[in-house]
Formats: sequence, C-alpha cells, structure tokens
Amino acid sequence: MSSPDTAHANSATPAITIVLGVSGSIAAYKACELASRLTQSGVTVEVVMTQSAHQFVAPLTFQALTHRPVHTSLWPESAASESGVYAAMAHIALADAASAVLIAPASANLLARLANGLADDLLTTIILATRAPILVAPAMNPVMWSHPATQKNIATLRELGYIVIEPEGGRMACEHVGAGRLPASETIIAKLNEVLLQQARRDLVGLKVLVTAGPTREPLDPVRYLSNRSSGRMGFALAEEAATRGAKVLLVAGPCPIATPRDVQRIDVQSALEMRDAVLQAWPRCDVLIGAAAPADFRAAEVASQKIKKRGGTGELELRLISNPDIVREAAAQKRQDQIVVAFAAETQNLLDEARRKMQDKGADAIVANDVSQADAGFDVETNRVTWLSTTQHEEWPLLSKREVASKIWDKVLGLRPATV
Ligand code: PMT
Repeated sequence: MSSPDTAHANSATPAITIVLGVSGSIAAYKACELASRLTQSGVTVEVVMTQSAHQFVAPLTFQALTHRPVHTSLWPESAASESGVYAAMAHIALADAASAVLIAPASANLLARLANGLADDLLTTIILATRAPILVAPAMNPVMWSHPATQKNIATLRELGYIVIEPEGGRMACEHVGAGRLPASETIIAKLNEVLLQQARRDLVGLKVLVTAGPTREPLDPVRYLSNRSSGRMGFALAEEAATRGAKVLLVAGPCPIATPRDVQRIDVQSALEMRDAVLQAWPRCDVLIGAAAPADFRAAEVASQKIKKRGGTGELELRLISNPDIVREAAAQKRQDQIVVAFAAETQNLLDEARRKMQDKGADAIVANDVSQADAGFDVETNRVTWLSTTQHEEWPLLSKREVASKIWDKVLGLRPATV
C-alpha cells in the first residue's frame, strides 16, 4: 500500500470525501493536523464541528487548512450562509457525499450520544443518515475512558458496526497517566486508508452467495420452543462483507434481532425445516453456500396444539425428539461442479478431528472449525477464533472481530474457486 498520506492522492482514484467530525476534547487541536494531511493527500475534507469543539479550536482554522467552509450547525442561519450544494439539507448532502466519516477526537459525551442514536446536532444527524463507514477515535481523561458507561457505549458502537480506533496510553493534558490519548495522525490515517481500500474491494462482483445465520426455533407447543445461543452475528458479518465486496447476497436467517446489512436480501425463518426449504429453493441459483447458522439437530416428534400443562402430571415431562434434516449436507449433495459449500463446525472438544469428520460427512469443500467453549469466541460475542480447513489447507487464525473473520473466509472462498470451477 502506498504511504498513508498519498494513498488517495492519485488522480486515477475516484474522488474521496472524508467527513471529519470534531468534538469537544483538548485533542481537537490534533484534528487540525489530520485535516491538513488529508487535504494535502488530495481528498476533500468536510469538517463538522460540535458546539463544544468551538471551545478548543476556531472553525476558521479548519477552513484555512481544508479550503472548505466548516459545518457547525444543523440550522444554518440562511441557506446562503453555507456552501452551495450543502446549504439546504446539509446533513443529508454530507451523509451522502461521505466516503467515510472520521470522528477525531470523539469525546465521552459524543460517544454516549452516538450509542443512543441521538440526532440532536449536525454531526450526530449525519452519522444516522450516512451509509459510509464510520470511524471513531476517542480521546478523554483515562478515568472517563475506563468508566463502565463509556466502555458500554464503545461496545454498543462496535456492535452497530462503528470502527473504533483505540486511544493510546501516556501522560494527558490533565496530568493523568493512562489510556485516553488520541493516536498519532499517521495511525488514524492508516486505519482510514485500510477502511477505504476495503470499501473499494469489489472482488466478489458476479458471485451469488447464500449465507445462513442464527439459531432455529423448534416448537414444543404454542408458547415454547427449543433453540440455542446463536446470535446470528457471524452469518450477518459474512453477508455484509460479501455485499460490500460486490456479491449478490441472500441471507437465510433464523430469529435474530439484527438489522439487515445494506444490499443484502434476507429471508427470515423460524425452524430448521423452514431454513432447509429456503436454502434448497435458492441454492440452484447461487455459486457459494456458507452455513454459519446453528440449526437445531432435533425437533419435537409432536408439537402440542395447546400449552403443555404441568398440573396433574408426575412432575416430569418426556419429550420425544426426532432428527432435523442436515441442511448443508442436503445442499452439498445437490452441488454442481462450479458451486462451493463451506460449513462451520461448532465444537467443545476434539475440534479439528470433529471438524474434519463433519467436512467429509457433509460433502463440504471447506469447514470453519469454531471452538465454542471459549468465552471470547463462537456464540453471542463480537469476536471469533477459528481454524480454516479444506482438503489441502489448515490455517489457525487469531482472535478477530467477526467481520475480520468473514473477510478472511471470503478470501479463502475466492482461492477455492479456480480449483472447482
Ligand atoms: O451466531 P453467532 O452468535 O455469531 O455464533 C456463531 C456460531 C457459533 C453459530 C458460528 O460460528 C458457528 O459455529 N456456526 C455453526 C453452528 C452449528 O450448528 O454447528 P454444527 O457443528 O452443529 O453444524 C455443522 C454445520 O452443519 C454448520 O455449518 C451448520 O450450519 C450445519 N447444520 C447443522 C445442523 C443442521 N440441522 N443443518 C445444518 O446444515
């Protein structure tokens, strides 16, 4: 990759607009250097300041550095008071124009407003209205940074897909020592470039992919069901990554309270039988299937038509369960030469042996072995630690965000294609 400052200065690259959000932190002065370096690299920098940011840096400074008007209010005094196209509906125009939104520094108060979805000034409104990736670089006193409320807000933002650039440790302006300093401009620009390059990656264009996600619910009676702890995050990350890289994506999801990623077609199902039907119907039109869902292996042999009563019985309830179909195996059995099937294996012991056995048994081209006994991997967490296995490959990946795991899986799927097409 070219140096961070020049990566996007090349005239052949499409025009890039960075919305630089500046909030009220002593580190706001460092945003001046960021604005200057980004502008010099050839990108358009639209600076949006919160009210508190004015206490630290004058808008005129950013205006001089970016050669652009600085955006300070959701309610410009008159349409003519702001620049041309951005005058009337500044928040929408800026939200649409952004290749990425970078908030540096992000104060504790701004993080709290973002985590709660507030839209009470220009910057927070742009953030709700944009479809561009959002990077936040927090900067604050170390005690404020480590406060459980701030950490909870950061976790919420990560869950919502914000990219958090962790603050650095050191001596602060307030004389406290600890984590809370805005990282150096090079670090922030390098991360921004990484995100922009990722956005520009379109190596899955032309592929139709089918991803399963989440748990299934197997009814026992009208109010009860059998299910598991899958949140759907792994499958949704795979779907989002594939769509960002240009694939046509169909996501078959069990009950997951997660927003559908942009440009992803979603079919909601409840039971494993419904998931099987949806998958097998779509599969002939797709090139790749990734089974990240955790469909139940069993369902009740009989579903009671009325709520099962506890009174009058022996104090015990016997349930007879029967096997559900294996969705991945059925899809793999119908697979054409040019189609690829990737399964997951969620294991608590003998991870690699079990995963290899499942890959063979299901007829999958590759399998993602997932040790779900670890607290930071597998079910219902943001991160995952997996091993990629195919007939010829064995790669253990470190703890990564589920989106990063998804990115590596799609890289691997691309690598499988020449061998099978
Ligand atoms: O959803 P998250 O909270 O993000 O958690 C992610 C995850 C742990 C669910 C995911 O990473 C994962 O491991 N998914 C597979 C879960 C699972 O059902 O594993 P399994 O080893 O029981 O099944 C093996 C494979 O067969 C899987 O691809 C599964 O989708 C598939 N299967 C299972 C049962 C069934 N009836 N039909 C299937 O197709």
